[in-house]
Amino acid sequence: MTDPQFVLTERVQRALAAAFGPDFADADPLIRPSQFADFQANVALSLAKRLRRQPREVAQAIAEELKDFPGTIEISGPGFLNITLSDAWITEQAAQILADPRAGVGVSTPPQTVVIDYSAPNAAKEMHVGHLRTTIVGDSLVRVMEHLGNRVIRQNHLGDWGTPFGMLIEHLLDIGEAAAVAQLEAGDGTGFYQAARSKFDADDDFKQRARERVTTLQSGDPETLRLWHVFMDATVRYFNKVYTMLGVTLTDDDIAGESMYNAMLAKTCDDLESAGVAVLSEGALCVFPPGFTGSDDRPLPLIIRKSDGGYGYATTDLAAIRYRVHDLKADRILYVVGNDQALHFQMVYAAARQAGWLPDTVSAEHIQIGMMLGPDGRRFKTRSGTSVKLVDLLTEAVDRAGAAIAERDYDGATRSQIAQAVGMGAVKYADLSVSHDSEYIFDFDRMLGFTGNTGPYMQYATARIRSIFRNAGIDATAATGPILLGEPAERALALQLLDFGTLVERVAESAEPHRLCAYLFETASTFTGFYENCPVLKAGVPDDVRASRLALCALTLRVLETGLSLLGVPVPDRM
Ligand code: ARG
Repeated sequence: MTDPQFVLTERVQRALAAAFGPDFADADPLIRPSQFADFQANVALSLAKRLRRQPREVAQAIAEELKDFPGTIEISGPGFLNITLSDAWITEQAAQILADPRAGVGVSTPPQTVVIDYSAPNAAKEMHVGHLRTTIVGDSLVRVMEHLGNRVIRQNHLGDWGTPFGMLIEHLLDIGEAAAVAQLEAGDGTGFYQAARSKFDADDDFKQRARERVTTLQSGDPETLRLWHVFMDATVRYFNKVYTMLGVTLTDDDIAGESMYNAMLAKTCDDLESAGVAVLSEGALCVFPPGFTGSDDRPLPLIIRKSDGGYGYATTDLAAIRYRVHDLKADRILYVVGNDQALHFQMVYAAARQAGWLPDTVSAEHIQIGMMLGPDGRRFKTRSGTSVKLVDLLTEAVDRAGAAIAERDYDGATRSQIAQAVGMGAVKYADLSVSHDSEYIFDFDRMLGFTGNTGPYMQYATARIRSIFRNAGIDATAATGPILLGEPAERALALQLLDFGTLVERVAESAEPHRLCAYLFETASTFTGFYENCPVLKAGVPDDVRASRLALCALTLRVLETGLSLLGVPVPDRM
């Protein structure tokens, strides 16, 4: 591990144990970046009371035990330890990650099986803007966890089952298969749904047919199932169009929609009932997980079988959790889903724990996705008030990116490649750079900006380093240093790069891709400071200095490229 904060924490903990006894070995040394040194440790102040000694005395005792420390330590103020790392130590660590194709990112030992439930649009409706965010955030978590060597299982929990399919299938028959397929493939699921819905509301004969169709679908009638497949296949082809445009890693193999659990629902209910976890309440089968009460202080039910015998969303999720733990052998399950479903998931997890289907060794986490707002601060809609079609939104991003680079002199193919990468990169980065649970305003002008913490800025910063190597006429992998730290800007950049490995681990632990964005942005800014102060290819730069600076460029490039690929943000070769 080369991350200084991590290394220092370990060192100071060892010093604490040596100075005050083993009880202090896991006290938090409170290492923070400092204005006066590289870091400061505030632990002496927090331990003084416990030790009944003066904070400065405590600091002194810790410093005594840090004699072999690779740097200098000063005690300042009431008892801060100001820590400055030696250039030799930084150089040595930097050399280590420079020689490492993974730039200091380790692998999880032992690897975990991580199930990631994300995207999950509903087939009965248009894949809406909210699903854009769960798709992008989920896909980035997949990439991060996989990069760390975990076994990742994607689960696209499509809404592909339930009573609406009766009317959808009848409507499909009314307009004809070919017309239905064309409409669904084009992404007009909403229009299709609305047409079916208005007939259902206005036409008693249609309503009757739709109801009967639900029954034949549930009974497994082959012809009805065939029609359901026709509907679903066309819908999934549209989803795939969106996934391809976005460059997300989901494939048809990852589809594990609600329909998949259909055959397990009766047993799910029976098992919960015979275990005494579910009870009948007003004709419905319910679980009352402890600790959940409604506004009237009455226990809140999780309904798993309605009084008419129908199953619901919660039943499917309980069957799914059991499958994921028992069959998929998950150690960790992430649900990347809108934050409006928080209560649902808390109750599902609690019920599953009660049933013994979710052991304490398996963590189930709701990665809450905040709502996407329009520029007016309200729920994102088109001007006419209907929900926005996702392909249209993505196409507009690419068009706008193309307009932004219109005056540059690229040939047509290169231009459209760049526009594609910049447009998608902008949309994805905008989604990823804010914490996933906060609301955010979808604003083309801001996300496509070439300054600030945006996709295009990060792509540009990366492409700029690639062009340094093009101009130097060497491959970045050939820049092997050694790294020398003459200028403060070189030292600052090296220190920043040392953090990458731990940072990626933290992103995986917390499931927070925005931390990676913040780090990469900081890295690009630190690089700019370096590049402005430290000429690389200019005539007169001594050979060893140039070799060192090229190595710093190469390492920065590797960190940015790896980081952006973990976010799923493509980098065009030039910009
Ligand atoms: N289809 C659901 C929706 O659009 C999301 C499904 C999330 N996953 C789950 N296991 N419930 O709201």
